[in-house]
This record gives sequence, structure tokens and C-alpha cells, in this order.
Amino acid sequence: MANAVKIAPSILSADFARLGEEVRAIDAAGCDYVHVDVMDGHFVPNISLGPVVVEAIRPHTAKPLDTHLMITPVDPYLEAFAKAGSDIITVHAEAGPHLHRSLQVIRSLGKKAGVSLNPSTPAGVVAHVLDQVDMILVMTVNPGFGGQVFIAEQVEKIRAIRKMIADRPIELEVDGGINPKNAGSVVEAGADVLVAGSTVFGGGDYAAAINALKVAVR
Ligand code: DX5
Ligand code: ZN
Repeated sequence: MANAVKIAPSILSADFARLGEEVRAIDAAGCDYVHVDVMDGHFVPNISLGPVVVEAIRPHTAKPLDTHLMITPVDPYLEAFAKAGSDIITVHAEAGPHLHRSLQVIRSLGKKAGVSLNPSTPAGVVAHVLDQVDMILVMTVNPGFGGQVFIAEQVEKIRAIRKMIADRPIELEVDGGINPKNAGSVVEAGADVLVAGSTVFGGGDYAAAINALKVAVR
């Protein structure tokens, strides 16, 4: 299990003026996914990027683009993010009244469907969509910014969701404030994909940062 943990650097912490180069650098450094944070200034208090940017980075890596949509409404934009080259499209459970429908639409576009939970959202929100999702993303910060402090209370939610997943083929991703000090606790609770923005892009050596996370969960 520990060896299967995947690292998904968040390009929110990359140098946006050199985004293609940054994506190639994390690819070469051994990332598993490229995590793309999409923010609308409405669902979250920050604005980041849209489908044109996903399309622009697509040729720079063959690794899966893990697109985290922090936007509402989300349904009108799913097709654009699919066409731009996302492989996994994650919507927030809080973003709309019809989570089940959004997940169905993502799968109908031929993409993996994810659902994300804010820190205040209970685990039970995913109970009746477990057969519609390929990924569940537990936020360990309030979404909107990189570089925030990990909320340790979320570890119990990770554990509860891992139990609910049981033997279904669903990845359990954790996002927010992940570093080599806390990575072990979320993996022990059942996470198998770690998003890391400032931990990977904050220092100069991306390969060393990715490796440090992998070593920390071994
Ligand atoms: C927060 C984003 C995260 C964030 C992670 O809203 O979803 O992906 O960029 O950054 P760090 O790892 O710095 O908390
Ligand atoms: Zn994210």
C-alpha cells in the first residue's frame, strides 16, 4: 500500500510565467499526477485558471491531469475541461444541488469523476455516490490558496471515508498543507494520493521534494 502512494504536485504554486516548463519539470521529477486547481472567485475567494490553461499545459506531460474544480456552477464547464485534456475531473460536493448528475456527466465525457469535500463537510455526503466516483478528495485546508496550514482533524474523516470505500476502485486523495511531517498520518488513515503545492514548488529541487514525501509514507 505505502509504495502505491501517488504524488500530485499542485501547479497553483508553480511559476505561471513558465508553466509549460514547470509541468515538464515535475513530470521529470517523478510526479504521478499533475494537480490543476481551478478557482472562480465565487465558490472560493481566489481566481486561478480556466480550460485554455489546461489545454496549454496538456502537450507538456503525458501524466494524468488531475483537475480540481473549485467553481460554481460547475456543470456548464465540465465539457470544456474534458475537451481541454483533463483526465480526472473533481467537483465539490458543496458546489451544486445535483452531485450525482455532475458525476454522471463527467463519466459520460470519458473522464474519471472525483468529488471533493471541504473541511466542514461530513464524510456521509459521499455515501450514495460511491459507485459514481473514481476519486474522493478530502480537503485538509479551506480551498482557495496554497501554503495554508494542514487541518489535522480531517485525518478522522479520511479514515471514515476509507472505510466507506471498502473494496471499490476509488482513489482517496488529500489536498492542503501536505508535507513530509504530516504525510504519514494521512496515508496511515487511508489516503493514496497526496496533493502538494508549496512542499514541491517551494524549494528548488522538485525531485527531492517528491522523494521526501514518498520516503515519509514508506
Ligand atoms: C487549495 C488547493 C490546493 C493547494 C495545495 O485550494 O486545492 O491544491 O494548491 O497547496 P499546498 O500544498 O501548498 O497547501
Ligand atoms: Zn487542489
